[in-house]
Parts: sequence; C-alpha cells; structure tokens
Amino acid sequence: MLKTFRRKTQEVTPVNNIVIEGGHKLSGVVHISGAKNAVLPLIAAAMLPEGVSQIEETPWLTDVCFMCDVLNYLGAATSYESGTLTIDATELSNATAPFEEVQKMRASFLVMGPLLARLGQARIPLPGGCAIGARPIDLHLKGFEAMGAGITISDNYIEARVNHLHGARIYLDFPSVGATENIMMAASLAEGNTVIENAAKEPEIVDLANFLNAMGAKIKGAGTDVVRIFGVEELRPARHTTIPDRIEAGSFMLMAAITRSELFLENVITSHLQPIIAKLNDSGVRIIDDIDGLRVLPAKDILPVEIKTLPYPGFPTDMQAQFMAYLTLAGGCSSIKETVFENRFMHVPELRKMGADITVRGNTAVINGVPKLKGGRVAATDLRAGAAMIVAALAAEGETVIEQVDHIYRGYEDIIGKLLQVGAHIREE
Ligand code: EPZ
Repeated sequence: MLKTFRRKTQEVTPVNNIVIEGGHKLSGVVHISGAKNAVLPLIAAAMLPEGVSQIEETPWLTDVCFMCDVLNYLGAATSYESGTLTIDATELSNATAPFEEVQKMRASFLVMGPLLARLGQARIPLPGGCAIGARPIDLHLKGFEAMGAGITISDNYIEARVNHLHGARIYLDFPSVGATENIMMAASLAEGNTVIENAAKEPEIVDLANFLNAMGAKIKGAGTDVVRIFGVEELRPARHTTIPDRIEAGSFMLMAAITRSELFLENVITSHLQPIIAKLNDSGVRIIDDIDGLRVLPAKDILPVEIKTLPYPGFPTDMQAQFMAYLTLAGGCSSIKETVFENRFMHVPELRKMGADITVRGNTAVINGVPKLKGGRVAATDLRAGAAMIVAALAAEGETVIEQVDHIYRGYEDIIGKLLQVGAHIREE
C-alpha cells in the first residue's frame, strides 16, 4: 500500500492576500499546467481498477489535494512526486465519502460512479451548491438509476445500491460535464452497453475516455454528443498524461492582452482554445500558433465584443469572468450573456470597486469600457472571479489587494511564481 506522503491541504493554500501593482508590461514564456477539470475526473477513474495508476502533468492544486483526501478516506493511497500523481486503489475499504470534503468541492461527487461500479454501493453527502449556482446532480442520479441503481436520500446523504450495473440508453436534458463523466465511469464496468445522448463534448471528457480506454474500457464517441460505452468485466491500472489547462491558458492570454504585453504560452492544445481565440481576435488581439505553443500579440486598442457562454465548443463559462475584466477597458460597449450557470456574476461588484462600468440585467452583463481602472481592495468570490481580479489588477493604476485567494489556489498552479517569471509586480501578504 502506498504511503500517503503528500503535503496536507492547508500547506498548499496559505490563506493570505495577493497584492498586485498594476501598469507593468509582461514578457516571456508561461508554462501551462495540466488541466484541473481533466485531472479531477481522472483521479476518480483511478478508483476503478485494482492496482496502481499514474497521472502525469498533474497540477499541484488545492482541489487535487481535496480529491486525494476523498480517495484516502475511501481506502485508496495517493502520492505526489514532481508532477506525477500515483494512486493505489487495490483496496477500497469504504463506500461513504467524507462529508467535509464533498461540501468543499463539488467534483468529489465524481467518486459515485466508480464506487457503484466497483463496490455496488455509494453513500455521498449532497454536494453543496456554491457561489455560482445551485448545481444540482439530478442528471447524474438519472443515469445511475437507468443502470439499475436504487437511490435514496436521507439526512443530506445520497445512498445508492446495485447488485450489478447494467447498460442503458441515457438522454441528458443538459450536456452536463460531470454527469457525462460519472456515467461514463460507471458504465465502463456495467453489464452490457450504454449510450449517453446529448453528452458533454468538452476536451476533458475525451481525456477521461482516453484514460478509461487505456485501462481496457471500450468507449467510443467521446467528444461528440453521443458516447457509447461497451461494459467490460474488469479494468487494469494505467498511466496517463493530463491535457493542458485551456482555462489557465485563456486566463494568461487575457493577462497579456489587458497589459498590452506579448507572451508565449507553452504546453497548449490550440484546438481546445478556439472559442477563446475567436473572441480575442474579435477584440483585436493576434494569436500566432507556433510549433510548441501560442504567441499572444496584444491589440493597440481593445475592441468591444459580444459573448454568450455555451457548452463546448461554445465560449466557455469558465472564461466569462476573466474576459469581462478585460472588456472593462474596451473602447466601446460589450455584452456577456451567461447561459450555463444562474449566478456567475459575483465578480461584477468587485470590478465596479475598481471603476468598471457594468450593468447586469438578468443573465446578461453590459460592459461600457472606461479609460482606466484603479487599484483597490477586492475579493476573489470564486475561482474564476479570482482570476478576473488578477486580470484587472495587472492593468489597474496603483495597487490592488485581492482577498480570499484560497479560491484562486484551487485552480491555478503557482500563479504568483508564473506571473513573477514574466515581470508582474505581484506578492502575497
Ligand atoms: C464542470 O462542472 C467544471 N468543473 C466547471 O468548472 C465548469 O464550469 C462546468 O463543468 C461547465 O463547463 C469540473 O470539471 C470539476 P455541469 P460541472 O454539470 O460538471 C446543470 C471551474 O471554474 N446541471 O456541466 O458541475 C448545472 O446546474 C469549474 O473550473 C443540472 O441541472 O458542470 C449547471 O447549470 C466551475 N443537473 C449546468 O448543468 C445535473 O445533474 C452545467 O453543469 C448536473 C448539472
């Protein structure tokens, strides 16, 4: 059994403030880390086979620590060494996920599919909503019930039991990323074949299918809206390299664009970034697709754009806050319509504190560009809102103090180190 020798979560997230002095150009190379939203389902999938799997290019993030805490609680051992996460799921001694961790991180709900597939039972606290919306799990449960699981909810826990999962045809009313992933993992070991219709098409779904197929699963169609899973008897441990983080890459592209800086991003998959590149091009930014990365050539003047967030391959909701921060300095009026989550404008009041001119009507924000932003004291109300504060602070006049930075450390590996590397005036206090 591998010893769990990774640093405890609190070591990863020193809860301090980030202080940025704006107005400085950036230059140089940023290495993009492995994708948070790929590695979290990959970690859950590593519970399916008995044995030791390895996930390379795993970013050192709070959310990765939370997920490892959940797996340790369930009996798997995890260890982390220079970017490689090793997971030994030989023995799973527990089918009840820990209350605290699940409340902290919704993605821990992704252990439900593997637990049902492996142990025939799962007992998981109802995941809390979060700052960006209620985030129900009805589509996950619909899939598990279709595959034969009996589901009950009692004192804030969801209990699921099944003798053996069987294949099913499942239509998702919304192309939910998490539901697609949870059902794919469960169906991999089900008896018979499963079809997921109106499946999510995000690159992270394809990455998970590749990992599962490397374990011996038989999954076809990942990345399209119809995913077919042919159940197998057992899966074997595998080694996998996580795809680069398209949201981190997009966030750094905006940090370059808003400071009128030229940056080179290495370790990117350009095709994953198309919707972001398209909107940056519309606002006057040129992106050069180089051999081993992307070069960002900023616009002289930021042009206003219209954005509507949609499931992939539409414009990603996870880039909405950062792009809004960038558009606060556009020469004209932009609009952003958020169609995926019902409350993902928590960053608006914080941007207004810096002088932004934003009006919200329902799920649409109208951004009137202003000549400048001024530094101030703001909060990272959630992960991507925190990234938006960094984008704004890098261009604002004077100093900005960002509070609640633990949200930022959930999804951006070594954000301070990477920004210092390219000349940002940034520190933790
Ligand atoms: C994933 O969350 C990502 N998280 C989110 O990234 C991302 O914003 C989201 O997909 C959309 O792209 C991870 O991958 C760990 P959904 P997930 O299920 O799976 C509704 C970030 O910043 N829905 O696709 O929870 C739900 O309410 C995070 O990195 C149901 O109605 O997203 C929401 O409105 C934030 N019933 C919409 O679907 C369900 O059973 C999208 O949710 C499930 C979801």
